[in-house]
Amino acid sequence: LISVRFSRTRRDGEPPLVNGWIPFLGKALEFRKNAHGFLAAHKEKHGDVFTVLIAGKYMTFIMNPLLYPYVIKHGKQLDFHEFSDQVAPVTFGYPPVRSGKFPGMDEHIQRSFRLLQGDNLDNLTESMMGNLMLVFHKDYLDGESEWRTESMYQFCNSVMFEATFLTMYGKPAHTNRHSGMVTLRQDFVKFDNMFPLLIARIPISLLGGTKTIRDKLINYFHPQRMSTWSNTSGFIKERAALFEQYDCMGDVDKAAHHFAILWASVGNTVPATFWAMYYLLTHPEALAVVREEIHCVLKVSGLEADHNQDATFTREQLDSLLYLESSINESLRLSSASMNIRVAQEDFSLRLEGERSIGVRKGDIISLYPQSMHMDPEIYENPEMYKFDRYVEDGKEKTDFFKDGQKLKYYRMPFGSGSTKCPGRYFAVNEIKQFLSLLLLHFDMEVVEGQEPCSLDSSRAGLGILLPATDVQIHYRPRQAREEE
Ligand code: HEM
Repeated sequence: LISVRFSRTRRDGEPPLVNGWIPFLGKALEFRKNAHGFLAAHKEKHGDVFTVLIAGKYMTFIMNPLLYPYVIKHGKQLDFHEFSDQVAPVTFGYPPVRSGKFPGMDEHIQRSFRLLQGDNLDNLTESMMGNLMLVFHKDYLDGESEWRTESMYQFCNSVMFEATFLTMYGKPAHTNRHSGMVTLRQDFVKFDNMFPLLIARIPISLLGGTKTIRDKLINYFHPQRMSTWSNTSGFIKERAALFEQYDCMGDVDKAAHHFAILWASVGNTVPATFWAMYYLLTHPEALAVVREEIHCVLKVSGLEADHNQDATFTREQLDSLLYLESSINESLRLSSASMNIRVAQEDFSLRLEGERSIGVRKGDIISLYPQSMHMDPEIYENPEMYKFDRYVEDGKEKTDFFKDGQKLKYYRMPFGSGSTKCPGRYFAVNEIKQFLSLLLLHFDMEVVEGQEPCSLDSSRAGLGILLPATDVQIHYRPRQAREEE
């Protein structure tokens, strides 16, 4: 490994600098292998704020969640989009939005995110419900009624990928499902496996056939093809109309933007769905409470599942599923490992609590690593344990979590923070709720006995929801079929 000597020395007022001769790439690899352990060890030695050189970048980690608000509210001097606008185009293959070539586009894109939230969520929810039932029926419920075996990740991936795709982009003319969906999903997985390397800026030309696969994925969204699709979400329609306003934008560039949204909408949602399902199925007491809650909600609205009618859920019904929501949030706490990054726009002094402040230099990266907070035993008792009702108190959502005797403003951050917080977060939690509710209503399902507990694969630490290290075998059969026996 190449070793470099830090050319930088710590100035007065700056955080401790982890200094000396260190392997240049070594720190980056060590970080990726076990980011949580790496940061905990540095915190032990250097305190709750310190600077490390990782892959050629000076990164200052703010480890104490009581200090998070001071970073999150610094919108102007600490910018997120500078980073994403460099990395996303290279990863997904479109020209940088903020290059000056596309005046006004960035603002429009930011505004389009409202179409994933608020009242717009009603249409998305209804459409997702229909698409989930379509895929569940065609691929898993119709036909034979005996027990079948399947891999759990595979199951989540095939259902959520297609149902989310149909909800976002719509369906083809004259039929309900897109041809080539299986190939599209398989190509997506191949691309996704290379995602951590692309984000680390390894040139795509060095990654075997990844460029060919990405070109194929992008081509799926060619504007001519998309124009024949119907039931497209307002969000994608508005973005497609926006791209049409820029003559200098080629068809392939437009398609690459749509492909990036496909990644954003399923890249994290599929593993998040897997963990939510895995923890529920392996915790019978949680499963019983959540199942009961779902049946109650349907009963109250006089819509209990019967043999002839597919029970579905409205958005209000989904909102009222308190224990289900807590169980999903608990699995997000345990499986998310995203890093929140801000780039200093100038040399300045970042005010922390009281009289405390730290010197930051232009171009430095300020990082929050919420996994350290999610696994802090002072905030979450027995943090390694899955407690499905951790976020319920007195029949309401629990929002009081403490550190050093002080109430935390931020205690669960799988979706990032501040102005760059994931715009799809409400839709994401909603669709996982829908998936699980339908699963519990319409299937008998169990994890095949004798398997090792599933662990996290940390190779995408810093980038979002971690994947499982191995897949899990499940048995299932349509529930209705059993009741009719
Ligand atoms: C950005 C997480 C689902 C659309 C992000 C970010 C995170 C995240 C951590 C970066 C925010 C930051 O760094 O501050 C997740 C997780 C999901 C999920 C954990 C599922 C459990 C979705 C879905 C959609 C979506 C379903 C769309 C339908 C986006 C978009 C951005 C984004 C468009 C970029 C926002 C920007 O450029 O400002 N997401 N996300 N996400 N997410 Fe999600």
